[in-house]
Amino acid sequence: MAQSVLFVCLGNICRSPTAEGVFRAQAKRAGVEIGCDSAGTGAWHVGNPPDRRAVAEARRRGIDLTSLRARQVTAADFDRFDHICAMDRSNHAALEALRPAGNSTPVTLFLQGVPGTPDEVPDPYYENNFAEVFDMLERASAVLIERLLP
Ligand code: 4NP
Repeated sequence: MAQSVLFVCLGNICRSPTAEGVFRAQAKRAGVEIGCDSAGTGAWHVGNPPDRRAVAEARRRGIDLTSLRARQVTAADFDRFDHICAMDRSNHAALEALRPAGNSTPVTLFLQGVPGTPDEVPDPYYENNFAEVFDMLERASAVLIERLLP
């Protein structure tokens, strides 16, 4: 059965849309059918395209993020996705607070157990480290695809 993954950060304009774009490209290259989407725990940027700095970094790496639009994560996402990947511990805590009663969808830190990275994706919105974040998301995405392969 096809699987699906939701990537979640705070604003859904920097880290999680980049994770979505990277993961989709890697899954396609690997020939695996895994659905993916992204969302933010906050609502400030709902309806907006990704941050222009994230779009530019992704474009440099051959990935187009321009069609993505920010949305806020909802309780219904816990039933729609098989796995939810949080970018940092704050996102993780916000997700656990939103989890519907009785739901057991795994929510994990996207970088947990990924060699050569910290446990949390730093927020490039303030740190302006888009290239470094992109590298981390690429590594994490490769590890996740490996884990999800049949
Ligand atoms: P993201 O980055 O969570 O990676 O999308 C942020 C985007 C916007 C804000 C914070 C982080 N903000 O405070 O508006």
